[in-house]
Amino acid sequence: MKGQEWYQEDDVAEAYDEKRFSRGGRLIDRREKQAVLDALSPVKDKKILEIACGTGRFTTMLADRGADIIGLDISGPMLQQGRERAQAAGVADNLEYMRGDAGRLPFPDDEFDAVLSMRFFHLADTPETFMTEMQRVSNDQIVFDTFNRRSSRLLYNWALPMGSHLYSETDVKQLLAGANLELVNAEHDWIIPYGFYRSIPNTLASGIRRMDSTVVSTAVGRPFSSVSYWEARVPE
Ligand SMILES: C[S@@+](CC[C@H](N)C(=O)[O-])C[C@H]1O[C@@H](n2cnc3c(N)ncnc32)[C@H](O)[C@@H]1O
Repeated sequence: MKGQEWYQEDDVAEAYDEKRFSRGGRLIDRREKQAVLDALSPVKDKKILEIACGTGRFTTMLADRGADIIGLDISGPMLQQGRERAQAAGVADNLEYMRGDAGRLPFPDDEFDAVLSMRFFHLADTPETFMTEMQRVSNDQIVFDTFNRRSSRLLYNWALPMGSHLYSETDVKQLLAGANLELVNAEHDWIIPYGFYRSIPNTLASGIRRMDSTVVSTAVGRPFSSVSYWEARVPE
């Protein structure tokens, strides 16, 4: 898994947030957080595991809202950024960060009410293993996103140094069925790729984003969405 090595570098971890979520990228951060809150709320006292938590964007947000949360990631430098973020946000005592591999989660079966993983499946070379592990440790919800195959993402995907795996809706449904999970909700968004938003100022990005949201919400635009947010459930 290429992304595993890529994120081990201190300079990659230090630049992670600034590179992705400044300028027009702020809109992306906001949308992803909204997708997570829509799926997981109410989060107070909910026992949540965030896999591949990186610099802790979601871990910190959920701890701040009262979740009982562990953030797990394979990269020490990314977790270090997460610790600094939690400290700055005043929630360092309300969360736990742990170094570990998503393919072998160090938890018993059914340990969490919800398992979350954002911006991870595009890095996964064995998504079936990761999905099965997520299912094993959750007693209820699974929330994640994917980058889509039939989308503008294809155009610059080859240029990503850490590589990227793109999914179709059918791929995700098969992945869920293979792990014995029920699909609860899916939202499809962003025709214009994330990379474009990141390259323009936030003020300019807002107008383009409005157009993008309008088009992607139509039947014609939806099949070209580059990102999907998924919520699934462990059957009773
Ligand atoms: C694109 S970053 C996403 C970080 C965070 N989820 C976010 O959305 O900001 C991908 C993360 O996956 C982590 N990762 C890669 N392979 C992993 C593995 N096998 N187990 C756990 N984490 C892994 C990387 O260290 C990195 O922090």
